[in-house]
Amino acid sequence: MQEMHQQMKQTYEGTLQALTRALELRDHATWGHSGRVVGYALAIGEKMGLSEAQLNQLAWGGFLHDIGKIGIPDAILLKTSALTDEELEIIQLHPGLGYVIVSGIEFLEGAADIILLHHERYDGNGYPYGRRGLDIPLLARIFAVADALDAITSDRPYREGSSIEKALEEILAQSGKQFCPECVNALLAVGKDQILTIQERAKHSEYYYDLPREIVWFPEQDKVG
Ligand SMILES: [Fe+2]
Repeated sequence: MQEMHQQMKQTYEGTLQALTRALELRDHATWGHSGRVVGYALAIGEKMGLSEAQLNQLAWGGFLHDIGKIGIPDAILLKTSALTDEELEIIQLHPGLGYVIVSGIEFLEGAADIILLHHERYDGNGYPYGRRGLDIPLLARIFAVADALDAITSDRPYREGSSIEKALEEILAQSGKQFCPECVNALLAVGKDQILTIQERAKHSEYYYDLPREIVWFPEQDKVG
């Protein structure tokens, strides 16, 4: 029975990783983003003394947080200029779409909350519900800080990424506003060195894809068919 459960879990995990890869292949701007953001979130969670089970949910929620973007049209998802109000409304559906994708999977309950609530803000100005403070589950509050760190330090087509120092300053300035103060403090306790290590490790992890050609590979012929 236990072996069967283990096998099912592996099947789920493989499927979910495939979903994350599918999304990253489509949205190149977020290449490698999942690996880094999960690394940051876990480092914050460890500083806050989360249990193994919570860290596990945090990791899955992290990998899959933007999975709902699979349902957003390319014309909006890949647009590099400013979005219209209507386009913004459509892109803001992605947490709900993602929740629908994973909500039937029992072992992802905590992760589903992260997917649904990763754009909520501590001050109540986020979406989809405008939840405030501790009404946002802890894992989603942690994830929001990790996601911001990656967004600020990553290059975008229209701007270069900031340094880690500058990113930490920016996030600290939003402590108690956009972000949960406890989570911000934990990120500061993680510190620059560990953040650098996570970035480096993400580059070499199986979740990082540098260029499409790196992952377009063919298995040895005698092993297929
Ligand atoms: Fe998102």
